[in-house]
Amino acid sequence: MQVTLRVRRFDPEKDKRPHMQSFVVEAEPTDQVLDLLNRVKDYQDGSLTYRRSCGHGICGSDAMRINGRNRLACKVLVRDLGATITVEPLMGLSVIKDLVVDLKPFFEHYKSVMPYLVNDEPAPARERLQTPAQRLRYDDTTKCILCAACTTGCPSFWANGEYVGPAAIVQAHRFTFDSRDRAGAERLQILNDRMGVWRCHDIFNCTEACPREIEITKAIGEVKLAIATGRIE
Ligand code: SF4
Ligand code: FES
Repeated sequence: MQVTLRVRRFDPEKDKRPHMQSFVVEAEPTDQVLDLLNRVKDYQDGSLTYRRSCGHGICGSDAMRINGRNRLACKVLVRDLGATITVEPLMGLSVIKDLVVDLKPFFEHYKSVMPYLVNDEPAPARERLQTPAQRLRYDDTTKCILCAACTTGCPSFWANGEYVGPAAIVQAHRFTFDSRDRAGAERLQILNDRMGVWRCHDIFNCTEACPREIEITKAIGEVKLAIATGRIE
């Protein structure tokens, strides 16, 4: 089949503003959108610029807007989109070139929530043990691949880029509810800021966008509850 791939292009060295460009590409229904982008880059326009690496939904580098929804280009198939496909860069972050956005603010928010295990207690002889139930408590939020689809699909983040955003809260959840961690109270204090969790208004765009099907709005709700009650459980 033939697919018309409409791409939002922007080259800061040549363009004053972005514009749409269409490419006609031969495709199989089982092709990924990433396959189409690669075909355009390899055979039609080598200047087309986008991030990708694994091609299998693992690295999180090819999040973009596909027919108006934040998706990974390697996880969406042509047969689910039809013969006209529109790809645009993620919203809420500045565009560097074509589909590549500046992720620096996204990773600054990520770093701000202490996304690592903190435990200064003497290490036990073997390892810091957990029960299966304790491990299950934060299992969902371990799946995050930091693709930014949630944060850049959030209207609160579009309105104010200082908002820490759902991806950072997911990371805070992952460590705060880990029974081995000792920095939960500190993390909750960071998120109890006017640019923290209270900017989430349960819009669910993040949950809808997540390629890992993480229940993000639920996780944010659990962080809010922990702040409100002062209890991490
Ligand atoms: Fe991507 Fe989901 Fe992680 Fe957000 S929570 S960065 S959408 S994997
Ligand atoms: Fe790695 Fe799509 S290229 S997630």
